[in-house]
Amino acid sequence: MEFSDLLIDWYLENKRDLPWRETKDPYKIWISEIILQQTRVAQGLEYYHNFIEHFPNVQALAEADEEEVLKCWQGLGYYSRARNLHFAAKTIMEKFNGEFPQTHKEILSLKGIGEYTAAAISSFAFGLPHAAVDGNFYRVLARVFEIETPIDSTKGKAEFSTLAQELIDKQRPALFNQAMMDLGATVCTPSTPSCEACPMHDMCLALSHHTIGNLPIKSKKISTKNRYFYYFHIVDNGTTFLHRRDGNDIWKGLYELPLIETTQAMEIDDVIASAKNSDFSKSFTIKQIDQTYPSITHILSHQRIIATLIEAKADYIEIEGSPYKQINEKEFDNYPISRLTELLFSHE
Ligand code: ADE
Repeated sequence: MEFSDLLIDWYLENKRDLPWRETKDPYKIWISEIILQQTRVAQGLEYYHNFIEHFPNVQALAEADEEEVLKCWQGLGYYSRARNLHFAAKTIMEKFNGEFPQTHKEILSLKGIGEYTAAAISSFAFGLPHAAVDGNFYRVLARVFEIETPIDSTKGKAEFSTLAQELIDKQRPALFNQAMMDLGATVCTPSTPSCEACPMHDMCLALSHHTIGNLPIKSKKISTKNRYFYYFHIVDNGTTFLHRRDGNDIWKGLYELPLIETTQAMEIDDVIASAKNSDFSKSFTIKQIDQTYPSITHILSHQRIIATLIEAKADYIEIEGSPYKQINEKEFDNYPISRLTELLFSHE
């Protein structure tokens, strides 16, 4: 039997029942694919239901406030996904008269949608024959066909997507793509794959040559940098201070306590001394440190954040024209915040 028949037969017997597989609504499929880009199915399910409940269609999403959208995304990470969804929903309202585009090219033109997601949406919603090639797909192909070209090289990407496009079942592209996703997620896993349960068992070259553990190959090593965030919880008569993250950095659009960032671990006095010309020091002069909690290390994909929460009193507060916002402590829950900020407050 051919690769795609073996794959689809296996899928029909073993598939996971997932809510976005029961709809052809491109809007819902789009939301599910964006959530699942960097999130596991088990965690994504709850967010998917909640998101669809809040924003049941493109129009509802387009008309929402960005903060509402971010609030629904809170805890999922990679927040640009939520901002891009919001932006693309407005594009669909304005450029496509509120109708989800139906061609691969138009879908690909939307913000936040790359080749993989465009292929997934076009195959699931419209039955178009585009292979949705992601990390799972690379891993399965690299092993079954024992391909040693690095998957993070230009040559590798071209080679894998050409092969994927040759393998796809043109009559059943949605089933083929779903099946690849499930095979990669449940059988052909990165470590300790279940080769005995794999439909490709008899044709897998890496299995017969004992090279599963070496494949796929990556050429680049990703380096991780350390960032030290010292967050100050400054309480003034039942109010506290927040700022909205901006610029080209993590957590854009989310709120957090005023912070001083350093590249090395420091004593708190040195942190404050080193922040002389920062926005922080223009608005606050720390008068007293009441308590410093143990640091929390928060791992993101290319960075390690070592965060410390400090209870402090400030002597001088200049908020007018500053990036800081004074809020009632009780209103804190209304603001979208990162998982790290949530964790910091669970100390208290
Ligand atoms: N990962 C990405 N897209 C998915 C889908 N549609 N089903 C299951 N896992 C996925």
